[in-house]
Order: sequence, then C-alpha cells, then structure tokens
Amino acid sequence: MRTFPTAFELTTDQMEQIIRRAGMAPSLHNSQPWRFRILPHLIELHADPKRRLPAADPEDRELRLACGAALFNLRLALEHAGIRAVVTLLPHLAAPTALAEVRSGGQAHPRPEDTRLYEAIAERHSHRQPFRSTSVSTEDRHLLMHAAHEEHAWLHVVQPGQHGTLEGLVHRAHRVQMANARFRAELDAWVGRTGDTTEGVPVSAAGPKPEPGDQWVHRDFTAGQAPRSPGTEFEAHPLLVVLCSRHGSREADLQAGQALQRLWLTATAQGLAASMISQVVEVRETREELRELLGGNVTPQALLRIGHGTPSVPSPRRNVEDMLVNGVAEPFQS
Ligand SMILES: Cc1cc2nc3c(=O)[nH]c(=O)nc-3n(C[C@H](O)[C@H](O)[C@H](O)COP(=O)(O)O)c2cc1C
Repeated sequence: MRTFPTAFELTTDQMEQIIRRAGMAPSLHNSQPWRFRILPHLIELHADPKRRLPAADPEDRELRLACGAALFNLRLALEHAGIRAVVTLLPHLAAPTALAEVRSGGQAHPRPEDTRLYEAIAERHSHRQPFRSTSVSTEDRHLLMHAAHEEHAWLHVVQPGQHGTLEGLVHRAHRVQMANARFRAELDAWVGRTGDTTEGVPVSAAGPKPEPGDQWVHRDFTAGQAPRSPGTEFEAHPLLVVLCSRHGSREADLQAGQALQRLWLTATAQGLAASMISQVVEVRETREELRELLGGNVTPQALLRIGHGTPSVPSPRRNVEDMLVNGVAEPFQS
C-alpha cells in the first residue's frame, strides 16, 4: 500500500494535496527545483541540486525565487487546511539544501482574500500569447503593488518614459545569452517538449515563435516546432512591472519568491494574465543597468508583463512523490 507522509495531524490525502499545490509554483524553464521533507511536526523546504540551471542562473537566485514561490503556495495550502503556517527562512543553515521550515502556529482563520489566492493556484499559468488591448485598471495596479508589499518586496511599475531604455536592455541581455553556447544548450534541454513529460516547457505553452521585430523579446520555447501564425502581433502597451527587493541576499531572494507568487496569484484572481521576461535580470550587466534605471537603491528580481489575455495552457508537473526528500538530502554544490 502506498503511504504518503504527513504532518500536523492532517490526513495523508490532505498532505498530498498541499504538496501538489506547492509544486504548482512557477520556476525557470519549469525546472521545479524544490523538494519537501515532511516530519510529524515540521515541513522543510529544500532546493533540489539536480535541478540547478547554472548557465542561466549561476548564483541560484532564480532557483531561490522559485522555491520562495513554492513556499508561498505551501503557506496558502496549509492555511486552507486549517494550519497557521509559521515560516523560518534558513538560507545559511548548515544543512546544505534546506531553505525554510514551516511549523504549525495553531488553527488558521484564512482571510477571504487568501482563500481566493488559494483557489487561483491551479488557474495561474504563464501566458505567452499576446494580450488584448484593454489596459490594467488603476485599482488592479494598486492591488498588485499591495501584494508585493505584503511580502516585504516592492513593485516598480515601469513608466512610459522608461520603456525605451528597458527595451534596449532586454534586447541586449537576450543577445548576450543567445551568444553563449552553454546557455543555448541548457535552454534546448528544457524547452520544446512534446508528449508525456513532467517538467520543462511544452510546445503547447510556448506562445508564438519570437520574431526579430517584436518589441519585447520573449524566449523561444518552441524549439522550431510551432511556426508563428501570420498576423500575430504582441500588444503595444503591456503593463510592465519590476519586482524588487530592498537588498540582495539569499534571504531576500526567498522573500521575493513569495512576493512573486502573491503578486501573480493576485493578478490571476483579478482575471489578469502574466508572463516573465527574465533575460534582463539574469545578465549581470543589464541587471545593474536596470537597477540604475530604478534609482540605484533596490535589487531587481523579476520583470513581468501583465494584461488581459485568453486562458492559457498549463505546463506539466512532477508527481508529488518525486518532490519529497526521503532520507538524507544530498549536498548542494554551487
Ligand atoms: C525565476 C523565473 C524566471 C522565469 N523566466 C521566464 C522567462 O524569461 N520567460 C518566460 O516565458 N517564462 C519565464 N518563467 C516562467 C516559467 O517558464 C514557468 O513558470 C514554468 O514554465 C511553469 O509554467 P507555469 O508558470 O505556466 O506554471 C520564469 C519563472 C521563474 C520562476
């Protein structure tokens, strides 16, 4: 008989659902670099060293963002099951892969807005198709900014006067990455997936094949398998936001990951669609220039485009059992 571990006296079915929800978080190339160790009184979040992406993310910053996003889902799912989640971030602990631990703080009373975010977990997908021309309302912009604040991050709404500079930085970062054979090989290994797969970006979720004339460079996730339909044009004025930390540290990355997920789920709950444009924050030089563009005293963590879109396609996830740490976690070698 199959047994799933559990914590906090929840049923094994409840715990399986909780871990499944945690694993629905976004991650670079859908690498899903998280694992969970479930003990009776504690859930540990670990990084999965086998799922590092050293060419795109040499310092594991985006790995920590993704794990932070999974941690946010875990918090929401526990609260939904009636457990108040008390989180301790462990970015420097001796246990080599542990990033956070979650204990029970007693009975949870989720706010209605958190229940809506919980319900949005399964609806949130990366939306790589063009958006409709309707702009994002001022009320929704405020909700998005508030979501980032609630998780100790800060959201910079890119002003029309900054679009040109940002566009130049994104294109430059993209060229730098595509000139790097290691980066291209790593990307190729994770994208353009067809058929049965539990990780990576499937062709069905890839969005239109990018063209040189596109204003914002979207990554080519099609692997040459999906030609662009004639006349496909991206929206002229997406809402562009930069999620920022006050400083750069491993802990700030984990915090920013939680903010990314609260922000994205808030957008989803408001009927908005989003996708990420990460080249500019992955290439060290352009990330530094973006920081200067934003005033020089914040750490840019993620660039997102947000707008109104048609429903998008989910990407696959690993089986929940594969997300568990059994026995001793292997060391993390960066
Ligand atoms: C740190 C990070 C960086 C990402 N960068 C990009 C990106 O540059 N372009 C993109 O289309 N998606 C990007 N994504 C989205 C992932 O590809 C996506 O989350 C993953 O494929 C799973 O799909 P889903 O978001 O639909 O669940 C990024 C996600 C994370 C967490």
